[in-house]
Amino acid sequence: MKLAVLVSGSGSNLQSIIDHVEAGHIAAEIAVVFSNKEDAYGLTRARYHGIPTAVIQHTEFTDREAFDAAMVRALQEHGADTVALAGFMRMLTPVFLNAFPMRVLNIHPALLPSFPGTHGQHDAATFGVRLAGCTVHFVDEKMDHGPVVIQAALPVTPGIAGDDLAGQILRLEHRVYPQALAWMAQDRIRLDGRIVHIEGSGVPVCDTDGVGPYLVNPPLEDDFAA
Ligand code: GRF
Repeated sequence: MKLAVLVSGSGSNLQSIIDHVEAGHIAAEIAVVFSNKEDAYGLTRARYHGIPTAVIQHTEFTDREAFDAAMVRALQEHGADTVALAGFMRMLTPVFLNAFPMRVLNIHPALLPSFPGTHGQHDAATFGVRLAGCTVHFVDEKMDHGPVVIQAALPVTPGIAGDDLAGQILRLEHRVYPQALAWMAQDRIRLDGRIVHIEGSGVPVCDTDGVGPYLVNPPLEDDFAA
């Protein structure tokens, strides 16, 4: 798999992907790290690891389709066949998505379809949810909407600051995104409409016969936990 990773900012998810590729956990080469912002720190991370970079600023284009077409050309010039959005803050049009059909993944810092948008973790904290998490999903034309590949959840401390919850979720993101990309590289992901099957993956976490293990917050007390 020849992967393009698209970043607009810090690129801590990119770093986790790089580390897992270098460790041999993902059967992929990172063909290029692309950004729409020339000062994105993710580009520095890529250069540090000798990974090619490309920058095209979206502000130079009058419409999304023209920007997407330029991005497609740049990624294809580097031989990319798969795209991972990692904090890339632009919506993609069919011009982009049709160039990489069902080969574009994104990570979102909330348990979709709850809390889509740019402040998912903060929205979850403000709403007062007891469970939060992150989602890796295929990208389609709607924001934070495509088929779900993997989700990870954690219990939320009541009253936690949005930034603190975001930090906790980010550490989960660093685990699940490389896993999803490894499945992609191994060609183990099958789609049945919106439903994603991972060939040969373990048993689901929730076994309804034994009712467990599961995540509940606050914890159930003795009379209710048995
Ligand atoms: C992450 O929270 C990711 O879920 C969201 O943007 C953030 C990117 O963080 N899409 P980083 O640039 O990978 O550190």
